Amino acid sequence: MNKFIAFWRSSIGKKIIMSLSGLFLCTFLIVHVSANLFLFKRDGGETYNEVAHFMSSNLAIRITEVVLFIGIVAHMISGVVVWMKNWLSRPVRYEMYNLKDNTPFSSRRPMLTTSSGLVGFFLVSHLTTFWIPTRFGAEPKPPYQMVSEAFSDPVLSIFYIIAVGFLAFHLKHGFQSGFQTLGLNNKKYKSLIDAFAIIFWLIIPLAFAAMPAYFLWFKS
Ligand code: HEM
Repeated sequence: MNKFIAFWRSSIGKKIIMSLSGLFLCTFLIVHVSANLFLFKRDGGETYNEVAHFMSSNLAIRITEVVLFIGIVAHMISGVVVWMKNWLSRPVRYEMYNLKDNTPFSSRRPMLTTSSGLVGFFLVSHLTTFWIPTRFGAEPKPPYQMVSEAFSDPVLSIFYIIAVGFLAFHLKHGFQSGFQTLGLNNKKYKSLIDAFAIIFWLIIPLAFAAMPAYFLWFKS
């Protein structure tokens, strides 16, 4: 326990927690986008509802969900603490011209900070719209109906499309920063990581953006 506290107290410890939790959240996105692709199946939402029911009733998935929320909280807390520490020490850093701080990561930090805040805001709104009613609502609607009704609202759909744009931005920079913190974004692995990153910052966000667009423009 003492070792963990010492690790957390160190700057690199918090950055490693941020990177590992962020990369773990990327794996969630693969599962989440795959399950939601069934929205496009033309069977009136039957398969989507079955998949959603399986996901919400399977014990292993429910346990993974707890880990997921721990990952989200760890990522957010470590992100906010690292950001605050950097922000508080900013004037000193500008004057001293610290070489270590003059890395691509720090040059990307303001953009990462903005996209982090917006993705965090999106997530809270998303859980309030979909997750809370499904899990805690008195009479939850079938998931397909809930999603299709929500996305027939142009304001919500456009908000989703913009938010997913910020998610793409966050993932593009966060993914590479995560590997950089772990010491893996070096010459040997860089091209592999860059190629793999495309799945996260381009393909997955495009698939997510297609969902509100589909209900707004093609299904109504
Ligand atoms: C744009 C298309 C999306 C759709 C249609 C969608 C749909 C849903 C639905 C229906 C739920 C509730 C599932 C349940 O409780 O069984 C849910 C939960 C959740 N969504 Fe999304 N989602 C989308 C995008 C996203 C994005 C981009 C993120 C992350 C940035 C995200 C993160 C989450 C999380 C963390 C949960 C709670 C955990 C879970 O139930 O798996 N979702 N989503």
